[in-house]
Amino acid sequence: MSARPRRIELDEIAKRFGGVQAVRGVTLGFDEASIVGLVGENGAGKSTLGKMLAGVVHPDSGRILIKGEEVRFRSPRDALRQGIAVITQELSIIPKRSAVENVFLGAEQPSLGFVSKSALAKRYAALAELTGFAIEPDTLAGELRIAEQIRIEIMRALARDARVIVMDEVTASLTFDESERLFEIVRALRERGTTVIYISHFLDEVLALVDDVHVMRDGALVKSSTASAETPQSLVNAMVGRSFDMTLPPKQLPPADAPVVFAARNITRRGIVNDVSVSVRAGEIVGIAGLIGSGRSEFVRAVFGADKRDAGIIELLGKPVKVKSPGDAVRAGIAMVPESRKDDGLMMRRSIVENVTLPHIGSFTRAGFLDKRDEGTKVAEITERLDLRASSVRAPVGALSGGNQQKVLFAKWLLRAPKVLIADEPTRGVDVAAKLQIYELIADLAQQGLGVLLISSELEEVIGLSHRVLVMRDGRIVAEFAGDQLDRQHVMQAAFGAQVEPAPELVA
Ligand SMILES: Nc1ncnc2c1ncn2[C@@H]1O[C@H](COP(=O)(O)OP(=O)(O)OP(=O)(O)O)[C@@H](O)[C@H]1O
Ligand SMILES: [Mg+2]
Repeated sequence: MSARPRRIELDEIAKRFGGVQAVRGVTLGFDEASIVGLVGENGAGKSTLGKMLAGVVHPDSGRILIKGEEVRFRSPRDALRQGIAVITQELSIIPKRSAVENVFLGAEQPSLGFVSKSALAKRYAALAELTGFAIEPDTLAGELRIAEQIRIEIMRALARDARVIVMDEVTASLTFDESERLFEIVRALRERGTTVIYISHFLDEVLALVDDVHVMRDGALVKSSTASAETPQSLVNAMVGRSFDMTLPPKQLPPADAPVVFAARNITRRGIVNDVSVSVRAGEIVGIAGLIGSGRSEFVRAVFGADKRDAGIIELLGKPVKVKSPGDAVRAGIAMVPESRKDDGLMMRRSIVENVTLPHIGSFTRAGFLDKRDEGTKVAEITERLDLRASSVRAPVGALSGGNQQKVLFAKWLLRAPKVLIADEPTRGVDVAAKLQIYELIADLAQQGLGVLLISSELEEVIGLSHRVLVMRDGRIVAEFAGDQLDRQHVMQAAFGAQVEPAPELVA
């Protein structure tokens, strides 16, 4: 850490939400031209800290100083004027506007007015050159992939000349190669003098990227150090406040005579999923790996009845079942923890109890009623089992930290005692400790005879948990690995395709 004047400082900054002290008296400074990591368990206060820096949340007490001068942000716009921007997973892209409009439009500038199109095109081209992003300026932002939308947000921050950019879990929706590219961009930003505050649960990533790392626990700053002095294990210990065992649960093979509990045969969605078949035995965890866009999520959505199939049948315990809607799927004993907790899974304004017990599946349908009498006890049991942390089970889900929201989604499905669990990116946004809890839970459920279909972009996760891994590419299954063959290198090569050599750092 240098002796230069700090670009931005937090002095005893604090924030309370109702009964929760989200951030308690944090004092912290950030330098120019640096990448700073911020880690901590779910609910530790990382996002709240980032939001205070970016004017989204107003501190109850304490000061924010820029180059030694106290500043007060009334709004994100205010913070942006002072050069501070935040990029979160809840991207603030306007889907119906073009890429170029999204980069240059702001709340202060609701239409392009008299700004000449060619002037904007020039500025856009300059930003594209600077960042190396090649996004067609006229594409509608809503049609861009998440990785590209994040690029739009970065370009927007740069267009506003942001000198401090808070990135809050931006890689959670990116593939490994997209993440690698983002890191190059972050390093390039540092070269330009930008301060990047990088919040993530991927501790290896954080350590490889940042100069300094700060650990938060329960709203307080508990450790600050140089990244090179830390390991994932040392960070986790600081995060949870004790030494924490990071070993994955051991793989218990299903008994040799375990029946095929679930099969999807020849599932096809024209142009997206091509003749994909999967079978899962009781007690078996089958992983599906592949790059984002390879058709993994589309396949399971088609299986679950969330999207229409053009062909294919579903069998439970050897018998064909009609699954035309998620309601059919749930009645047949198929549960799905969907990829997008906001769009498909949770009602943000409703309470935890309501989310867990209501037979409503977001954009899906109604299904799977519960016995009202055991509802309370069961919810309590499951939230405890998942170590779901909230001020109360009556708290709105929208007020929970990201990881705790994910646990609500799990609780909802476990309550329905399914035969097959389809988990699509089940630990996205979940901290290391909670991740292990979810891994143990999945392994446990399999032990109890459930079949599990696990879709994950995290190789460690899909390899570490699954008995067998299928790799998808371009809507097809292109490889299957088990036993000794199941390793990072094999899965990665199959995912990219033999003809495309992955960059060396990707297969390390
Ligand atoms: N708008 C809000 N209303 C009520 N409580 C909130 C609100 N925002 C955050 N909290 C609470 O403040 C605490 C800190 O939340 P925060 O989102 O900052 O955690 P985090 O470290 O970012 O966690 P995660 O890793 O899960 O994203 C949590 O207990 C959370 O439930
Ligand atoms: Mg957060």
